[in-house]
Amino acid sequence: MKNIDSRTHVRGESVYLDDIPVIRGTLFGAAFGSPVAHGSLKNLDLTAAEAMPGVVRILTYKDVTGENQIGGIVPDEPLLAEHHVHYCGMPIAFVLAETDEEAHAAIKKITVDFDPLPIITDPREAQARGDLIVRARTFRLGDVTDAWAQCAHVFEGRADTNGQEHLYIETQGAYAVPQENNGLKLYSSTQGPTAVQRAVARSSGLAMHQIDVDVTRLGGGFGGKEDQANMWAALCALAAHVLKRPVKYALNRIEDMAMTGKRHPYSSDFKIGLDADLKIVAYEPTFYQNAGAAADLSPAVLERTLFHCTNSYYIPNVLATAYCCRTNLPPNTAFRGFGGPQGMFVIEAAIAKAADALGIDAAVIQAKNLNQTGDEFPYGQKAESEARACWDKTVGGYEVNTRRNEIAAFNAANVLYKKGLALMPVCFGISFTNTRMNQARALVHVYTDGSVGVSTGAVEMGQGVNTKMLQVAAQVFSIQPERVKIQSTSTYRIANTSPSAASATADLNGRAVQIACTDILNRLKAVAAIELHADEAAITLKDERVYVGDECTDYTWQRLVLATYGRRISLSEHAHYATPVIQFDPVTEKGHPFAYHVYGTAVVEVTIDCVRGTYETDAVKVVHDFGASMNPLIDRGQIEGGIVQGIGWMTLEEVIYDKTGRLRSNALSTYKVPDIYSVPKEIAIDFLETQADNLAIFRSKAVGEPPLMYGIGVYFALRNAIRAFNPSVVIPFDAPMTPEKVLLALYDTTPTASPVAHDKIADDLAVNS
Ligand code: MTE
Ligand code: HPA
Ligand code: MOS
Repeated sequence: MKNIDSRTHVRGESVYLDDIPVIRGTLFGAAFGSPVAHGSLKNLDLTAAEAMPGVVRILTYKDVTGENQIGGIVPDEPLLAEHHVHYCGMPIAFVLAETDEEAHAAIKKITVDFDPLPIITDPREAQARGDLIVRARTFRLGDVTDAWAQCAHVFEGRADTNGQEHLYIETQGAYAVPQENNGLKLYSSTQGPTAVQRAVARSSGLAMHQIDVDVTRLGGGFGGKEDQANMWAALCALAAHVLKRPVKYALNRIEDMAMTGKRHPYSSDFKIGLDADLKIVAYEPTFYQNAGAAADLSPAVLERTLFHCTNSYYIPNVLATAYCCRTNLPPNTAFRGFGGPQGMFVIEAAIAKAADALGIDAAVIQAKNLNQTGDEFPYGQKAESEARACWDKTVGGYEVNTRRNEIAAFNAANVLYKKGLALMPVCFGISFTNTRMNQARALVHVYTDGSVGVSTGAVEMGQGVNTKMLQVAAQVFSIQPERVKIQSTSTYRIANTSPSAASATADLNGRAVQIACTDILNRLKAVAAIELHADEAAITLKDERVYVGDECTDYTWQRLVLATYGRRISLSEHAHYATPVIQFDPVTEKGHPFAYHVYGTAVVEVTIDCVRGTYETDAVKVVHDFGASMNPLIDRGQIEGGIVQGIGWMTLEEVIYDKTGRLRSNALSTYKVPDIYSVPKEIAIDFLETQADNLAIFRSKAVGEPPLMYGIGVYFALRNAIRAFNPSVVIPFDAPMTPEKVLLALYDTTPTASPVAHDKIADDLAVNS
């Protein structure tokens, strides 16, 4: 089935925040963000701004009617700065004016002085100073100390990954409309309506039942709106509450890029040991996460880095340590993969380093160490593995060995172009790692005309979850999809939702829809049994008809619905689902945190232009573990999008802050994102359909995040292509692999060449500005 939004999307009729008709009396907000990254506030002067045309009010922390705090995991993030700012762009004041233009013009008239404080942008420096947001975390399996002695080969190194701008097409924003008796209705571009509701309640001082957060859809979230929609909603809500007028703020792109956090950059060290047979015996990574100035979701992201630090491999001795480092950058946040990709990059780098030193293809080591069913992850859960099945099907089905020979022949015959190939296995755990978040509810109404309205906690952000929810209801009732409408996501209808995240939205909310619909169906069947004088167990509904055994009756769906209503039996249900089995103990760092894992393997081919350093991705071909896909069209879309987003992170996208903590890549002129030319010339997707039972909805495994990590293969394929041209080059593991870095590596003749560090580029920029 097609995505139910496709028609209104292409016709431009889909409604986003900015499409909501503006109510008369609406004020427009704009945040004044700190111009410096760290300092004590002095002399905030609003007088000139207040005198600007159209300005109605400028709010500061003094106007906050509730608690001036929006930190979710750690209370370290004020809504509006009080005496201290800790990142560039941190909101200090909120201007309300009659028009958007007037609000933005007034911002420019605000003046403020600061006593400067030291600015830290490097996570290693923060760690050395003891500036950690939460305690260091360590996952352990076996005993690495003993294991090093058994290793025939031990390698150490460093691997860095940069941040990534979410670049959702729809920027952050909110629209708050006052209701009677201090109530508030909020439209928010958020993945987490309840997160917004909580932040608004806390900062405004209202009870949660006073606040309806209503979300129709987002123009993309990618994790950026899991927590970071809260700020803008809380600001609009506060202003609407204080001024008793509707308040809207949709950030412009530059504001959004400058003020919101991104994927966490990580700097990591690794030590890896292999035996003579190339089995990985021990692995010791240390992760320095650049969390930014406040916790936001960083502690949870950090945890997932540890969960995925061995990717698809079984390693018997692991000691993995992770530091959540506070720096003076905007708080970094969730981004597709949620720390998993950063962890996986490091193990792939470690394997590549070993392979280089041993003069073999990394795939030899990868293949020898894939996990198998029953193998233990460092966090205690046992694998139910499809790693080998995906790998073998990739190598066989895509004729990887033939391709490798063809590439070797091409490289032998060509000087100006070189090709590279890499394999990238992925193993990603499905469930929120915070066990209690794995719950969802659905509210289903069957109306007397036979139409069905479904509300859940799921937020549609382009990933197609509404289509999947509709499929669940239509399938359980056996009715035409046209009869079902997925309603907006509202905290008045569905309470205490988890954000739409962790790829688990369809699983959690779909199961709740399934339970609600099944309950209603059972009532319908009971009525049919009475009306048809039949045994209830013999009643089924198929294609909108009631059957007794194999016999089709003249009771239609609609007639049965009316008969049920006539008997005064409820046609509505509110159901709850909580994932069974899962648990995790953060003290022992052991448990069974994931409902299941998603596996896959990609083979990636690239060609580099050895004169220019430019490159193309020729192919990304994957075998992906879908379980039993309930919507192959949507799932394919998720895989294609994830791959391209992963390629962007690994090759092009450079988030650059200078030493003063200012974002220099602050617009699309200075921040390169993948365009059509970055899309692989071929994306092939082969379905590994498995029969095993799992906890996914209709056994259709979650698909939102795992494909992003196939993009990591492009990095390593580029590396291999460079080495085909310049075999002695030492290429640091420092993603993204931009064309500049490719060019430098191609002609680098120093054996211990170091990369052109971001710091260096940033310093130059700072000097020139
Ligand atoms: N796909 C689109 N089109 N837009 C998005 O914002 N977010 C991704 C992924 N795919 C996203 C997307 C992220 S970060 C997650 S966690 C999942 O979708 C969330 O949706 P799901 O749980 O329904 O897979
Ligand atoms: N994934 C995504 N988002 C989350 C998670 C997670 O595991 N935990 C809390 N928010
Ligand atoms: Mo996705 S990073 O879990 O929103």
